[in-house]
Amino acid sequence: MPIDIQAVRQKFPILHQKINGKPLVYFDNAATTQKPQVVIDAISGYYSGYNANIHRGIHHLAEKATLAFEDTRKAIKDFINAGSTDEIIFTYGTTDGINLISNTFGRTLQSGDEIIISTMEHHSNIVPWQMLSESTGIVLKVIPISDKGELDMQAFKKLLNAKTKLVSVVYASNALGTVNPVKEIIELAHEVGAKVLIDAAQATSHIKIDVQALDIDFLCFSAHKLYGPTGMGALYGKATLLNEMPPWRGGGEMIKEVTFEKTTYNELPYKFEAGTPNIADVIALKAALDFVNELGLENIAAYEQELLAYATSKLSSIDGLQIIGQADEKVSVVSFVIDGIHPQDIGVLLDQQGIAIRTGHHCTQPLMQRYGIVGTSRASFAVYNTKEEIDALVAGIEKVKRLLS
Ligand code: ALA
Repeated sequence: MPIDIQAVRQKFPILHQKINGKPLVYFDNAATTQKPQVVIDAISGYYSGYNANIHRGIHHLAEKATLAFEDTRKAIKDFINAGSTDEIIFTYGTTDGINLISNTFGRTLQSGDEIIISTMEHHSNIVPWQMLSESTGIVLKVIPISDKGELDMQAFKKLLNAKTKLVSVVYASNALGTVNPVKEIIELAHEVGAKVLIDAAQATSHIKIDVQALDIDFLCFSAHKLYGPTGMGALYGKATLLNEMPPWRGGGEMIKEVTFEKTTYNELPYKFEAGTPNIADVIALKAALDFVNELGLENIAAYEQELLAYATSKLSSIDGLQIIGQADEKVSVVSFVIDGIHPQDIGVLLDQQGIAIRTGHHCTQPLMQRYGIVGTSRASFAVYNTKEEIDALVAGIEKVKRLLS
């Protein structure tokens, strides 16, 4: 069903302003999406109406806050079709989720065990494994990519062996837009007995994910790329795996009983949730998920694919512009370089025209090295963007070229 984009735009107060005298064109959605009023209201509604700590009090406010908090866990379970709310752990975001796995599941690995990642990983799916490698002696292997920005699946098959314990890959690349064949990756990894972690930071707002149908072992995502607040996200893990894993952070909530001699740990999911969490933002994520569900993720994705096709065609016609990342299957991210112009100059001059894009290495330095570039300019689209805004971007780039030539 087509979405009424103008009605959607009305739900986002931030979009209706001028930057440098020009209407804001916000194309930095891969960095973070803007928030609809319902999300902003959910945060202030908690603080102004029922601020209390959760799971601890028996008073009215504490119960109300606990119910709202746990409602979000249920909404996430449904959103990704997990088998149980026990499998949903609240985190600070995707980075935190990956660090949780490297500090728990990772600690059960032995020197010489292998973990496979890919060339297009964000630093958050590289550095935690390097840190684990330094402390445990695990070996990190990297799947190469083609010039188009697709994983080399033949090379992946050759990397897999009985020592492979984990394959940790991004579902959709933040820098290229590539959507990886996660179903095939998971099937191949499982054939050698390896578990699979999917970094879904960039995927959840564009692709309907069914963790059971895909047989995903672990999946991490951030609320802020899904129209929700920053500083929170979730980790999905199969209950059988989470139960076997040691806890990571110690403190309140994650314990059953504490004495000075010994501590026993709480049941899932609380075993992995030490300390008072980010209650307001967890509650606000439910509002973000409701917003997405009301529009329908399939409808959002279909519209974004229209924007992607339009932008790809318009940008490709600009002389000297090269799109980095031309995979057959992409989310709505277009990264590009222009002959003789530094990405940062493009970003600064577009900002003067009210257009917000991201420039630089996008926290994927090894990927930039693979292409032999310092960085790219990246426009990334969300459901509230329009073709007219893409026209403004194209005109803006032509102006940048005129100014700098
Ligand atoms: N990882 C985020 C991005 O791609 C911040 O911009």
